[in-house]
Amino acid sequence: MVVYSPHKVILFGEHAVVYGYPALSATVDLFAKIYLVPSRSGLQYTPFVQKTLSYLGLSNVYVKVETNVPSGSGLGTSSMIITSILLSERDYTKEKLANEAFNIEYETQGLGSPIDTTTIAAGGFVLTNGKEGVPLWKIEKNGISWNFSSVPTRNTEMVIVYSGSKGSTKEQVAKVRKFYERGKFAKDIMNRIGSITEDGVKAVMKGDAANIGELMNENHSELKVFGISTDQIERIVSVGREYGYGAKLTGAGGGGAVVIIPREKEKLIKKLKEMNVMVFDTSTTSAGIFKRSE
Ligand code: PMV
Repeated sequence: MVVYSPHKVILFGEHAVVYGYPALSATVDLFAKIYLVPSRSGLQYTPFVQKTLSYLGLSNVYVKVETNVPSGSGLGTSSMIITSILLSERDYTKEKLANEAFNIEYETQGLGSPIDTTTIAAGGFVLTNGKEGVPLWKIEKNGISWNFSSVPTRNTEMVIVYSGSKGSTKEQVAKVRKFYERGKFAKDIMNRIGSITEDGVKAVMKGDAANIGELMNENHSELKVFGISTDQIERIVSVGREYGYGAKLTGAGGGGAVVIIPREKEKLIKKLKEMNVMVFDTSTTSAGIFKRSE
């Protein structure tokens, strides 16, 4: 069985979502082809691949991942691989797939939210802990609950840029947690990110690119306070702001990717290419993960 999984972006609310604040994510039209092949080489796998294979009682297999998107870019690769391994071996409802994949990811990482696994399983725009949309399902862990809904709306054009260095979700989430546990200042930021997200959902539903971009800029400024941006991310964001409606880091940060809502797309892409960074000219998609026998 061959699994096709979309990558995902978080448009608003990363990090805040870990504590149950709202977030808006979406699958993007960049798909990975993932499948298992027999292997006796005893190759070393990353911990989350090992955990997924042992959960399914599988050994002597190798997980092939064909994608142009680098891992550690904040575009969902680890969640995609976990969900794909599960789906290639068993039949699932979307909800069960999102749940099981999140449990495996959480056991490996020891932290985080189910936003990535749910987005990949559901497809399209996914709102976490918000008021809009069509209810999907709820996931709970350690006293925090995440209520997901699907926001059916037209797709949003975006340019995604890989900054060239990987970000570790575990490290960045732990960094933000230290601020969060220390007091009110981080909670105020999370509250502001929560209301930016709520406005962002309305802008996405209206298809108002200028407003989406403006709110992304605000969200990025809030995230920067936690020290999770990098010099290269800042350079990309400033080009994104010049030739786009707005730009922000997406995912955990500390490296990884930037998402830009393009305005003068040709100029934007030309400028980015001059910086020698990896550029994906794409848009959101309504598709989630699916499998096919080939
Ligand atoms: O793994 P990433 O880079 O897609 O980050 C996920 C988003 C975080 O909010 C930072 C962590 C989480 O699990 O929600």
